[in-house]
Amino acid sequence: MHKCFLVIEGLVILSVLQVCPINADSPCVKGEASTLTASVGGYVVLPCQLIPSASAVGMKVLWTRKGSSSPVHFYTEERDKTHSQHEDYRDRTHLFKEELNKGNVSLKLSKIRVSDEASYECLVTSTPHSDTSVELKVMAVGSTPEISLDDDTRYGFKVSCVSRGWYPKPDLQWTDGRGAVLTAESETREEQDREGLYTVRSYLRTPEPEGGQVSCVIKYGKDQGELRLSAKIIGSSIPYLPGYVVSFTLFLAGLISLLCLLGISWIRR
Ligand SMILES: *[C@@H]1O[C@H](CO)[C@@H](O)[C@H](O)[C@H]1NC(C)=O
Repeated sequence: MHKCFLVIEGLVILSVLQVCPINADSPCVKGEASTLTASVGGYVVLPCQLIPSASAVGMKVLWTRKGSSSPVHFYTEERDKTHSQHEDYRDRTHLFKEELNKGNVSLKLSKIRVSDEASYECLVTSTPHSDTSVELKVMAVGSTPEISLDDDTRYGFKVSCVSRGWYPKPDLQWTDGRGAVLTAESETREEQDREGLYTVRSYLRTPEPEGGQVSCVIKYGKDQGELRLSAKIIGSSIPYLPGYVVSFTLFLAGLISLLCLLGISWIRR
């Protein structure tokens, strides 16, 4: 069965938490927006800029994650201080040194993981009242659903569907040949692997659906417009008696006739 992996790199949605006082003498920092989306495995630049533009070279730049005391990135005395950095971020953060003199203290975060989803704050310490926060959302587009026919009898279908590698959790739906949602007996389960990615698995037992066809539809990303991936399976549209039922019926009929014959000859004796 073939698999297809789609990766959307660095999808970004931002808005601002502006904290600059109107008549500030000292520069303050400004992010471009407050929510940002990044793909698992990709990278993101968390924006932060001194306004008005001033050099940040001699300043302390502190990037933190809300709810965590150890820094995501700390720069002081013109150096990155990696020893105090939170170990989850080790070797994954980068301040653009060539941009610091323009007051650009944006942070590049690489090898994005599901666990990076959080609110990040940028603080330039020689500028009081000047921090800005960015909310980071992580996403991973998983595989095309794989559908398989486990059983196909005159009572209907038993099918299963699996799709892997999603974040956040997608929705799974079963539809018939006309796209109508099948509400028959189904069971859907999600499991999260160590990297936080979801696998969704569903089983459906349904009477012969419209057109003898069922589709497994994965719906993902309500905020950014919906992404639908589907796979379909076509069963035999003519209900039939499975072979073993037919042979068992013939066998039973034969047995009864034989017993009757034996009975008759026994009575006659
Ligand atoms: C800051 O620098 C980075 C890296 O060069 C760049 O991507 C970003 O756009 C810059 N931000 C501003 C506000 O200039």
